[in-house]
Amino acid sequence: MTNRKATLTVDGESPIELPILKGTRGQDVIDISSLGSQGYFTYDPGFSATAACQSDITYIDGAKGVLLHRGYPIEQLAEKSDYLETCYLLLEGQLPNAQQKTEFETTIKYHTMVNRSIEQFISGFRHDAHPMAMMCGVVGAMSSFYHDSLDITNQQHRTISAHRLIAKIPTIAAMCHKHFNGQPYMYPDNSLSYSENFLHMMFGTPCERYKIKPAVAKAVDRLFILHADHEQNASTSTVRLAGSSGANPFSCIAAGIAALWGPAHGGANEAVLVMLNEIGHEDNIAEYIAKAKDKNDPFRLMGFGHRVYKNYDPRATVMRESCNEVLEVLGLENDPLFRLAKKLEKIALEDEYFVSRKLYPNVDFYSGIILKALGIPVEMFTVIFAVGRTVGWISQWNEMITNPYRIGRPRQLYTGADTRDYVPVDKRQ
Ligand code: ACO
Repeated sequence: MTNRKATLTVDGESPIELPILKGTRGQDVIDISSLGSQGYFTYDPGFSATAACQSDITYIDGAKGVLLHRGYPIEQLAEKSDYLETCYLLLEGQLPNAQQKTEFETTIKYHTMVNRSIEQFISGFRHDAHPMAMMCGVVGAMSSFYHDSLDITNQQHRTISAHRLIAKIPTIAAMCHKHFNGQPYMYPDNSLSYSENFLHMMFGTPCERYKIKPAVAKAVDRLFILHADHEQNASTSTVRLAGSSGANPFSCIAAGIAALWGPAHGGANEAVLVMLNEIGHEDNIAEYIAKAKDKNDPFRLMGFGHRVYKNYDPRATVMRESCNEVLEVLGLENDPLFRLAKKLEKIALEDEYFVSRKLYPNVDFYSGIILKALGIPVEMFTVIFAVGRTVGWISQWNEMITNPYRIGRPRQLYTGADTRDYVPVDKRQ
């Protein structure tokens, strides 16, 4: 809170004073919560000027290209931390000491297996079910398996649910992939790290262990770190809204997965690959760049631009490094699709249209390429985003539950019919 106030005057009536709130960083926020009782609602479709909550977790400055988790720059976390440590940071508010780190890793490993009935549950889906459809269903169904941790007022229950979600989501994601491919499910191997274990469950088979390349495991770990949280985006806001009714965490995360599925959110990395395949050859780049610039053509360069970042997305800088490393380690630098992607990146970075509009490659451009290089089918791209984002969702949900909150209930500007009398069917035109 500051001593500053905003004043709203409507049609010359006596002014309404509105307090101005100040965060640690970022824009000041005008507190309009008293307006409802004074007879007014505010109108902000898409919430582009509305802070729906207070949060201590993540800070973004889109103009400067800054992303902080609990105060730590994303670049430092991506370089020096690992995914599970970042999970602890997001959940607990500080980095773990050595003992806390080991204990947390052990706890997560303890929870990696899923109830056997979940296997039957996944097997019940059509062989070609989209993995995101399976994820929405199975994660929601987790609340029917873990009754012992559903009391949201009990701190221990909330903690166990958070650990179960972080530990089991990769197992469920890999099972969805296996179901899609008609291969047997792979059990987790707790001697491996979080990202190694995910690769093992995705690509191993009971007949042949998957040989994990350290650089590949590192790239996957980074990818999870870079997707871990991103403030009050659509899926996180969905999780908070669902949670504000008192729903259990598994159903709230299932709601978040549903929101993530859309192409305007988590689906963009898939769109990058579709676009690269459509361009098809380096010789066609100029034609597609011209299409992207043409106002009469709906085509946009997928993986370029961002609603919040009007500077380089700091996650994209790190992801670009990982992308180059992965292509080198896997010997794919000369693969035509990846050469096409690199050439497109170079041309767009130098083109006046993209430079003047600050349309830099975003995190999805590089994550799409990395995932493709790892042999992950495009249907799984958004699932992998969901695996990384689970900790952000559950941290934000937990933050809401442990602070004063009310059920989320937006109002509306009604534009429908005015009151009218019911007409019996035989009298209707
Ligand atoms: N290709 C070509 N032109 C573009 C692109 C693009 N990818 N993105 C924006 N522009 C142009 C717009 O036509 C507009 O031009 P104008 O000023 O001459 O009219 C200008 O750049 C500003 O664009 P806006 O639409 O105002 O930018 P906005 O912030 O609304 O959109 C968005 C951001 C949706 C991400 C957009 O850049 C886009 O569609 N990108 C491609 C899809 C994509 O990669 N999405 C992933 C985002 S990252 C994430 O969600 C994790």
